[in-house]
Amino acid sequence: MDTGKGTIKILSIETSCDETAAAVTVNGREVLSNIIYSQIALHKDYGGVVPEIASRKHIEKINQVVDAALSESGYGLDDMDAIAVTYGPGLVGALLVGVSAAKAIAFAKDIPLIGVHHIEGHISANYIENKDLEPPFVCLVASGGHSHLVAVKDYGEYEVLGRTRDDAAGEAFDKVARAIGLGYPGGPKIDKAAKEGNPDAIDFPRAKVEGSEYDFSFSGLKSAVLNYLNQCEMKGMDVNVNDVAASFQKAVVDVLTDHSINAVNAYGLKKFAIAGGVASNSALRESLKKRCEKENIEFFCPSPVYCTDNAAMIGTAGYYEFIKGERSGYDLNAVPALKLGER
Ligand code: KG4
Ligand code: ZN
Repeated sequence: MDTGKGTIKILSIETSCDETAAAVTVNGREVLSNIIYSQIALHKDYGGVVPEIASRKHIEKINQVVDAALSESGYGLDDMDAIAVTYGPGLVGALLVGVSAAKAIAFAKDIPLIGVHHIEGHISANYIENKDLEPPFVCLVASGGHSHLVAVKDYGEYEVLGRTRDDAAGEAFDKVARAIGLGYPGGPKIDKAAKEGNPDAIDFPRAKVEGSEYDFSFSGLKSAVLNYLNQCEMKGMDVNVNDVAASFQKAVVDVLTDHSINAVNAYGLKKFAIAGGVASNSALRESLKKRCEKENIEFFCPSPVYCTDNAAMIGTAGYYEFIKGERSGYDLNAVPALKLGER
């Protein structure tokens, strides 16, 4: 174990959905390698992630990805001080592959094992490129499975201020993209199509959740898009895909921006970060950046590669758990519906 220079090297693994990923990080914020094998091409024909196919591909790829992460880092397994792995939330079969691999390595090398919450990973992605960012701050986590507004009180200490009542933001992007024929994965395709469209062409609803200012609801918006498409068909009207993409995206961006800024202001912290796959959306980044500038809020966002699923963010979150003394046992299991703040 090489801790002589006061450095903690962590090998991290992420397999919660359709990316097989491994990384080596030093002291949480320095990324030596970040290997991501994306399965997108495999799931494309099905219009979404097929859990069984994802698990099988993870099994096939996990050792190669871990080897690549180590070799790119210039270190070997014997140099690692700990191994961090996503154990939830996510697809159970997919999670199990990463958890089993991490347990095997931890046992074989007799190094600490740290189970990491996937969303904690997404939030921690902000620490990688913003070396001075420290809690407390408010973070919007918007991914394929989650839309949360979180107060990050300290490392590993969270208070959920708001969450989606139905679809996650990314899920809405994926479903709408499918409906307008853009295919999977929807987010990046809508992002691109929207650049050619008029965001004010169609007035889609901005949903508010009665009684909870920071909660989200995207299913009504999704239905509004489907209704619009049906009406066009019935009236024999051509659908301008770019306009639908731009107008839908604007509706999501407006809601995410307004709720986030309200939460930041109400929480009284002028520090705000974003995380998760949807955080790589160019219109959302632009809108939040502008609003934060206007309201004098310090704004942080990871590069797109650290927004979508990756293992470096798991290494970062794992590091802060590690230095707090958190350890997982060899009985660590995949927890598909793990809640933020639970261990
Ligand atoms: O964080 P992530 O990689 O996986 C989950 O933890 O879910 O997020 C994936 C989600 C997908 O729904 C994808 O369509 C969405 O993030 N996404 C985007 C963009 N890139 C990925 N949504 C909007 N705009 C993008 N550029
Ligand atoms: Zn994710």
